[in-house]
Order: sequence, then C-alpha cells, then structure tokens
Amino acid sequence: MPLRKRDRDNAAGLTRRDALAAAAGLASAAALGPALAAPAPIPFGSAAQIETFRADPRYRQALLTYCDVIVPMNDLKWEAIRHDRSRFDFSGADELVGFAERNGKALRGHALLWGEALPPWAREMSTRAEAERELVEHIETVVDRYKGRIATWDVVNEVIKFDPLEGGPMRDTIWQRLLGPEHVEIAFRTAARVDPKARLVLNDFNFEEGWPGTAERRRVALDICRRLKDKGIPVHGIGMQAHLYAENSLDIDGLQAFMVEIGKLGLDVEITELDVIDWKLPADAGTRDRAAASLVGSFLNAIVSVRRPKAIVTWGLSDRYSWIHDTFPRKDKAKARPLPLDADFKPKPMMAVLDRYRRGRA
Ligand code: G3I
Repeated sequence: MPLRKRDRDNAAGLTRRDALAAAAGLASAAALGPALAAPAPIPFGSAAQIETFRADPRYRQALLTYCDVIVPMNDLKWEAIRHDRSRFDFSGADELVGFAERNGKALRGHALLWGEALPPWAREMSTRAEAERELVEHIETVVDRYKGRIATWDVVNEVIKFDPLEGGPMRDTIWQRLLGPEHVEIAFRTAARVDPKARLVLNDFNFEEGWPGTAERRRVALDICRRLKDKGIPVHGIGMQAHLYAENSLDIDGLQAFMVEIGKLGLDVEITELDVIDWKLPADAGTRDRAAASLVGSFLNAIVSVRRPKAIVTWGLSDRYSWIHDTFPRKDKAKARPLPLDADFKPKPMMAVLDRYRRGRA
C-alpha cells in the first residue's frame, strides 16, 4: 500500500513546522518566527518490568536515557501487591518508584482496578459488601502510600466490553458482577479522596481502528467519563493503550473526532502502552521497522493534530522484552519488533518518531 505524503513525511522525520516553512518557501522552520511557536514537548516513557529491570543493566540504562516517565508494568497490580490477602507487598513497586524518583522521572501508576491480574482470593469474592470493602481498602492503601509521588493513576483498566455492540458496554469482571457499573465510580471517588492532586485516568485498548465495535468503545469511554463528571467525581483523562495492529488501518477521522469529544469534556488524552503488533508483516526487519514507525507516526499525528497527549508511553523499550512475541507469534517464528529499540537496545525508526514529539518538534 503506497504511503500517503503525510506518512512519507512522518517517516522521513519532517515536522509540521518544516512542512509549513517549505510551503511558505522559507529556508527553514526557524524563519517562521515566534508566530508559530514550537509545540510543547510531550513527555515520553515506558513500562518497566521488575524482573528485567533487576537482570539487565542495559534495560535500566535505556530507561534512564530515553524516558521522562516510568510506569511499573506489573508491580502495582493486585496480583503483585495482594498475593497474600492479609498484607500488602510493595517490594517491586517501591523498587521501581524509588528508581524513578532518584533519577527525576515522573511516574504513572497502573492499575488500581482491573478484572485481570488478580490473586486467587480476589477472584473468589462473593458479595457486594466484600468487593466494595476490598476495593476501597486497596485503593486507600496504595494511593496513600504513593501520594504526591505517583502523579497519574490508571484508576480503572479495561472496564469496557471488547465489543460493546455485543450485549452492553461493561466488561464481565468480578467487579462488574458484584458491584455493577458503580465499581468505576467507587474506584475514582476513592482515589480522588485519598490523593486530590493525582490525575485520574480511565485506561483501555482498541480505540484506534474503524470497526463499528471500536467506534462504540470510544463512545462508551466518553460516556463513562461524562457520567463521572456529572456526579462530580474527579476524572482527568482517557488512556489509550494503543497496541497497534500493523495490518489494520487507523480510523483517522474517528480518532480525531474522539480527540474533539475528549476536549469537550475537558479531559486529557494519554498514550499509555504503545507498541506495534507486526505478526502479519513481511519478515524483513527493515521493512517491519519502517512500517511500524510510519504507523506510529500516522497515529500520533492524528492525535496530536487535535489534542496533545499528556504523555506517550510505550509498553517496554526493547524488542528483546515484549509481551507481543508470545501473545502474537509470527508464523515464520521471527522475533516480534514492536518497540522503539531493537533487541540490542539500538534505536529504530520508531524512536526517531517518538523523539520528535518528546523534543517538541512535532
Ligand atoms: O511475578 C510472577 C513470578 O513470580 C512467577 O514466577 C511467574 C511465572 O508464573 O509469573 C510472574 O508474574 C507474571 C507477571 O507478568 C510478571 O512477569 C504473570 O504470570 C503474568 O501474567 C504477567 O503478565 C503481564 C500481563 O499484563 C498480566 O498482568 C505482562 O507482563 C504485561 O505486559 C501485561 O500488560 C498488560 C497491561 O497491564 C494492560 N494492557 C494489556 C497489557 C498486555 O497484556
């Protein structure tokens, strides 16, 4: 499929200002002067997996070199903190939070409520009262511990049904079964009460393509946030996980309309788990890397052209460590190439795209 001019520009590293300067026949973007001030840099970051963080010094160094923001990939999940019902184990989270703080990195917390990554005892909760008590106590304890340190929380993760057109908006989880849709309100209300300064985000996936179910997911996300706001419950943003399928096209118009609606609600947008699922692309590494960079460029260009995200976070940094390889295995068994650094931690074309936003050049 021939790349559109915008995609070619993206891949070539041209910025919006470069294009405007060229169109005006100016020698460089600098000649545009302050009238078209450079866009604000968008902080870039990555999820950090504790096992890899402990085992691979190159991984730690990459987090230091490339990231403004760090999010513990698994260590703030119930599965990690609450494996024993009677106590909270913050060892992994404290290690990553401490690393981020010592190195001046901002922190995102993931996730106060999710229907997955739960310890067995939580899956066995059986009454409304038990679920509400455990949920409130968990959020109170976790948010209080990191109050003023973790600036942004994925308060709820993946509460929207995979295809809301099939039987209703909310995903079937233990929280939904015991508390109904109110589980979302309880989570946001509790987090806001404990840390009124934290930014509180609804985080979910599959907002990017043009299927009817995807458009409905965008609508449901907005509706949930609108209901929270109507009840005076603080919500600050929508997190787009953005696990992009390289073989599918983006719904640029749908994405831009989503950004307009997010703005009308006074919400921020965050890109929270960006990576590229390349399992259907040709084997050649260069081809895959260029296609992934172009897809990320088109996606971010669509978003940023309407609303600048508060942060752009990838779900890992190096192809050496990614969930994609096992979850979306390639028929040719070639290693997935979903992230901005290759398996030897060398930057790929995707990192150049991300770096333009990080430096306020796009
Ligand atoms: O920590 C235990 C370890 O003690 C044990 O020996 C090992 C083997 O059982 O499991 C380890 O826990 C694993 C954990 O990752 C840490 O490596 C869990 O089994 C495993 O299920 C967990 O997978 C994570 C998954 O979320 C579920 O929590 C992935 O690393 C993580 O990339 C993935 O991330 C999710 C986001 O949270 C939400 N969006 C989708 C994204 C991809 O699935």
